[in-house]
Amino acid sequence: MECYAQLLIPQRTGGKLSVAKTLGSPCRSEIFFPDAWAPGIWSSEHVEAWKKIVDAVHDQGCHIYCQVCVFGRVAHPNAPEQIASGEPVYGPSAIRARGGKFRWIPGSPSHATPTPLDNPRKIVAQFKDAAVRAKEAGFDGVELHAVSGYLINQFLDSTSNHRTDEWGGSIENRCRFGLEVVEALVDVWGADRVGIRVTPSGGYNDMGMPLDETIVTYEYFLTETDKFGLAYVNLIRYIELTDPVIDGQRRGTAHDIIATYSPMIKNSTILSNGAFTPEEAASFVSDGKVAGVFFGIPWISHPDLAKRIQYGKLLDQKPDPHYFWSRRFGFKSSGERLYRLSTCQLRIDRLNCKRVTAKQ
Ligand SMILES: Cc1cc2nc3c(=O)[nH]c(=O)nc-3n(C[C@H](O)[C@H](O)[C@H](O)COP(=O)(O)O)c2cc1C
Repeated sequence: MECYAQLLIPQRTGGKLSVAKTLGSPCRSEIFFPDAWAPGIWSSEHVEAWKKIVDAVHDQGCHIYCQVCVFGRVAHPNAPEQIASGEPVYGPSAIRARGGKFRWIPGSPSHATPTPLDNPRKIVAQFKDAAVRAKEAGFDGVELHAVSGYLINQFLDSTSNHRTDEWGGSIENRCRFGLEVVEALVDVWGADRVGIRVTPSGGYNDMGMPLDETIVTYEYFLTETDKFGLAYVNLIRYIELTDPVIDGQRRGTAHDIIATYSPMIKNSTILSNGAFTPEEAASFVSDGKVAGVFFGIPWISHPDLAKRIQYGKLLDQKPDPHYFWSRRFGFKSSGERLYRLSTCQLRIDRLNCKRVTAKQ
C-alpha cells in the first residue's frame, strides 16, 4: 500500500489527476510467472487488501484500474502456489513457450508444456468474478490484459493455439475467448469502465505470427472489441527491449501498430505506450493519432517524471532492470535504488515498498 501511496505522491503525478493501474490474477493457481509474483484478486481477503491500496491512490486524487490477467502457459507447474491449488498450468494447446527462467524454483526451469484448457468458459467466469471483486475493492474500472504472451494473447496467436474446436483455427475462433472475456467484464462494469491492452507485434513470451496473419487477426479482434465502445484501447507499440532473439532471430513482428489498427477503433479512446519519448508522445497527441500515452520505465527511473516533462528537463537517469522487482527474484542483493529528483533525492526501497529518505 505504501508503495502506491509513495509512487503517486504529487511530485510524481505533477499534482494532476492521473490513472494508475495494477495487476490482479483471477486464478487461484497463478501467482507465479517468470518476471515476478502477481497478486491475486480471487478471494475476499484479496479484496480487503486491495481496498487499502485503492484508498491510498484515491487519497492522492488519482484513479486506479485493476488490470485483470491470467498467465496461462507462462505460469509454472512447480511453483508452490500452483501445486497447492491442485490445478495444472493451462494453455490453449500443449505448446510450451520457448525461453523463460524461473529463478526461484529449484533448478531454474524454463517454461513447461501446459495442459490444454478443457473448458475456456470456466476462465471467462473467473475473469467475471475478478471484475466483481475489483468493484467491491473500490477500483475505478478494469483493464483486460490481452498482451505479453499471457492467456488471452495465447488464444489469439496461431503459434500457441492449435485447437480444432470452437476456440481455435479460424480467426473468429481464436478471438472468441478474448471477446467473451471482454463481454463478461462489460457485464459487470459497463463498457465505459473497461479498457483493454493489446500487443499485436508480439515478441515477449514467444508470441507472434507472420505479419499478414497478425494484421487480419488483430483487425478482426479490435473491430469486434470496438463494438462494445470500451473506455479505451491501449495499442502497445513494438518494443525491441522485450522481444527475445530465438533461433538467431527476433521473435516479434515489428510493424506500425497505431497506423495499422487505429482505423478499427471508432468507439473507444485510443491510448498508446511503448518506448515513447515525451516529444514523440506530444506530437502523437497533437496530431490526433492517440488521445494519450502511458510511460512505464521512464516513470520508474524518474520519480519526478511529470515535472521533468512539464519543465523540459532531461530524462537522463538510466533505468536498472535489476531493481525493477526485488532481490527475492535473484537479481541484485538489495531492493534499493536511488533515483534522483531534479531538486531532491528519493530513495525507494522496493523490497519493503517504503520511501526511505527524501532530502533537499
Ligand atoms: C517493472 C515493470 C513491470 C511491468 N508490469 C506490467 C504489468 O503488470 N502489466 C502490463 O500490462 N505491463 C507491465 N509492464 C510493461 C509496461 O506497462 C510498458 O508497456 C513497457 O514498460 C513499455 O513502455 P515504456 O517504454 O513506457 O516503459 C511492466 C514493465 C516494467 C518495466
